[in-house]
Amino acid sequence: MKALCWQGKHKITYETVPDPKIEEPRDAIIKVSSCAICGSDLHLFDGFMPGMEVGDILGHEFMGEVMEVGSENKKLKVGDRVVVPFTIICGACDQCKRGNFSVCERTNRNKALGDTAFGHTTAGLFGYSHITGGYPGGQAEYVRVPYADVGPVKIPDGLTDEQVLFLGDIFPTGWQAAAYCEIESTDTVAVWGAGPVGQFCVRSAIIMGAKQVVIIDNVPERLTMAAAAGAIVINFDDDSVLDRLNELTQGKGPEKCIDAVGLEAHATGSLDSIYDRAKQAVMLESDRPHVLREMMYVCRPAGILSIPGVYGGLIDKIPFGAAMNKGLTFRMGQTHVNRWTDDLLRRIQEGQIDPSFVITHTAGLERGPELYETFRDKKDSCIKVVLKP
Ligand SMILES: NC(=O)c1ccc[n+]([C@@H]2O[C@H](COP(=O)([O-])OP(=O)(O)OC[C@H]3O[C@@H](n4cnc5c(N)ncnc54)[C@H](O)[C@@H]3O)[C@@H](O)[C@H]2O)c1
Ligand SMILES: [Zn+2]
Ligand SMILES: [Zn+2]
Repeated sequence: MKALCWQGKHKITYETVPDPKIEEPRDAIIKVSSCAICGSDLHLFDGFMPGMEVGDILGHEFMGEVMEVGSENKKLKVGDRVVVPFTIICGACDQCKRGNFSVCERTNRNKALGDTAFGHTTAGLFGYSHITGGYPGGQAEYVRVPYADVGPVKIPDGLTDEQVLFLGDIFPTGWQAAAYCEIESTDTVAVWGAGPVGQFCVRSAIIMGAKQVVIIDNVPERLTMAAAAGAIVINFDDDSVLDRLNELTQGKGPEKCIDAVGLEAHATGSLDSIYDRAKQAVMLESDRPHVLREMMYVCRPAGILSIPGVYGGLIDKIPFGAAMNKGLTFRMGQTHVNRWTDDLLRRIQEGQIDPSFVITHTAGLERGPELYETFRDKKDSCIKVVLKP
């Protein structure tokens, strides 16, 4: 079959690789009809995430048709149409029972690596680092789905791929980030990053009834897309983020702050970002936490910082004194996708939201390598790429 493979920093190729096979009785093989490139894939592309190996098949946002099921899989049958959440879950461990799916205790087949890197293992993830199991991903014609009697979400007739594909990742990610904010009708919610995840944070926060939602980025078409949903815009190239957020909140600061940027934050000329880039270059710091610092500083005392943006390792010069003395709450994590999918699928069916709004580029899988670059560099007004194997 054909697949997109990671070959090292800044190198992804379209390859012929062996077809996946059923390995365990609960598995299924999915023929991928649509897959997407996620902001998290960019951290792999840019070489910031440890634990990748040459030849790894990428992709963790995908859907398709069930081709084959293992002997113990009672949930799926051949021909079912499913969206596959990026987190692989067993459904039966302590954490799965609590709904903490992204920290499932059983699905990381490289548990020892996870234990060493993070203190305790987290769930297995598709198309991601070997620290999270090194499972082949879904930017491919076919994919093996382990524990396929638990994770996959069956899609009812009448919905297009484009409407439901993002149930596997960025829609629940934006939703969880907003839910973690425990939004009240008096709240200002500030969202850093108007990428695909930020777009879903904005729309989720609006649905949850925030008084005002503010979006921060410097990419005009991304800001425009968020403004179309009702967000107030701050372009950090033109304005001081801290001054504008304080103005919008009568000097008090936003009650809720969402980091939808993660470890590759850029900040034109700010002193701290020059420092981060220098330390990152000599490998004294793995991640660039500019947005985290800004959120800790501007958030209203007793507020909540919600962090869907991905961090991989160590960060430096964090104003922890500000966070502690202001009594801030931090909530973060890879998304517990299956915690939200039933509710979000219903909202799509009822027409409350159509996630396809975020797609700007659709192409064959063979154009994947070029579109990784287009997406990363925001060329051609790219916001979200969908690939068709
Ligand atoms: N927690 C999860 O389960 C989960 C799931 C999906 C994605 N993510 C993460 O969410 C983040 C966003 O993903 P995406 O697909 O939207 O990626 P993206 O790269 O398209 O979007 C990031 C946006 O942040 C903006 N940005 C950079 N520096 C900024 C700054 N200083 N202030 C404000 N904005 C800034 C960029 O211009 C860009 O528009 C990534 O870190 C990704 O790994 C997490
Ligand atoms: Zn993702
Ligand atoms: Zn589990």
